[in-house]
Amino acid sequence: MRVHVADHPLIAHKLTYLRDQRTDTPTFRRLTDELVMLLAYEATREVRTASFDIETPVTATTGVRLATPKPMVVPILRAGLGMLDGMMRMVPTAEVGFLGMVRNEETLEAHTYANRLPEDLDQRQCYLLDPMLATGGTLAAAIHYLVERGADDITAVTLLSAPEGIETLRERVAGIEPPVRLVTGAIDERLNEQGYIVPGLGDAGDRLYGVV
Ligand code: URA
Repeated sequence: MRVHVADHPLIAHKLTYLRDQRTDTPTFRRLTDELVMLLAYEATREVRTASFDIETPVTATTGVRLATPKPMVVPILRAGLGMLDGMMRMVPTAEVGFLGMVRNEETLEAHTYANRLPEDLDQRQCYLLDPMLATGGTLAAAIHYLVERGADDITAVTLLSAPEGIETLRERVAGIEPPVRLVTGAIDERLNEQGYIVPGLGDAGDRLYGVV
């Protein structure tokens, strides 16, 4: 698994405001949106393109457009939904699938409670969206889910990642064939006993959508 930390002052600035507990929900959502647009730039660096001919007002030339099948963007419910708009603004022709996963707060293992994805993801480049890579269990399960359906290239996009989660993810995807990439805004210090990222930003789903 390749890991890319999007080391950029604008990203660090926006992440700092996102972490701040005084940041209210509307601002948190807007910052998430902006961060995802910046991360999407790195995440799609290897998106497949096909050449096609156009005519400018001056001459004929050859350009590129996104290849088919179109990229598949998969937010992991609930918190990943907060990343969808930013990603779709950058890749508006992508298709969207949904994966509902929740972690058991005692075992910290991920469990799938909903999915809306094509059965066949053959030749699809998939972009998994989840703000927090904490234990790595949810993303590992989601990646295996996509691989079982034939995805042949997977990029996970997270705002923050814990070193422990990255290691777990690395181990759990080590044997699989399609390339797996992680693009993240920052790697934080550690996980605490409750499975929260430290310093982190708290519960991303709650901060995006309120406590339920
Ligand atoms: N999920 C969150 O929302 N926050 C964390 O810190 C870890 C997992």
